[in-house]
Amino acid sequence: MAADAKTLKKEAARAALGHVESGMKLGIGTGSTAEEFVRLLAAGVAEGLDVVGVPTSERTEALCRELSVPLTTLDETPELDLTVDGADEVGPGLALIKGGGGALLREKIVAAASERMIVIADESKLVETLGRFPLPIEVNTFGLRATMLAIGAAGRRFGLTGEIAIRGTEARPFLTDGGHVIVDASFGRIPATRAFADELNAIPGVVEHGLFIGLASLAILAGKNGIRTIDA
Ligand code: 5RP
Repeated sequence: MAADAKTLKKEAARAALGHVESGMKLGIGTGSTAEEFVRLLAAGVAEGLDVVGVPTSERTEALCRELSVPLTTLDETPELDLTVDGADEVGPGLALIKGGGGALLREKIVAAASERMIVIADESKLVETLGRFPLPIEVNTFGLRATMLAIGAAGRRFGLTGEIAIRGTEARPFLTDGGHVIVDASFGRIPATRAFADELNAIPGVVEHGLFIGLASLAILAGKNGIRTIDA
């Protein structure tokens, strides 16, 4: 019988746990795959694995507390050994799209503070070019419409068009842990990933975007034929 998505996520998470050693300071990702990792990590901790983690969202923090995974903050522990997190897409060079769960800002800060980042996912997330998944962009609530126009203009300079939508509803937008709005940009394929990331970073109202470039060092992808690993 073909493994279901939850089983694949768990297999990828289990393989990532094999990279965790006692004494490590961890970044702990957000999303359904990262949650599988948290559950396995908690079981390891119960058996004596001595680690401490920085959660990348309030949702992950709550799960870690529920399962007694020892936590710290990035202020107390600003340098981490390893972050394990999911992704919405894994592209060439382990460039990623993240933010489907709305935690991209903290995820990127935590990944950047980590010596290594392992991405865990089922193999359906592997793509030849990023952009099938709408690109999440975290924006300040002040001047939201102006920032959305600026994002659209930036896209057009790269030949990218498509809907730019506020996550949630206009009246009740989804708010991130940082109190910002997410806009999802359905640009389609984004070949000039790095240059476009820089272009988005130059827009004042953009807090952060879901293009993760040069952060992941290893991808662990679970599929029907087993685990596949890709190094950056
Ligand atoms: C949250 C994320 C998640 O890692 C991403 O959305 C993947 O989630 P899932 O493992 O549930 O597919 O970036 O901001």
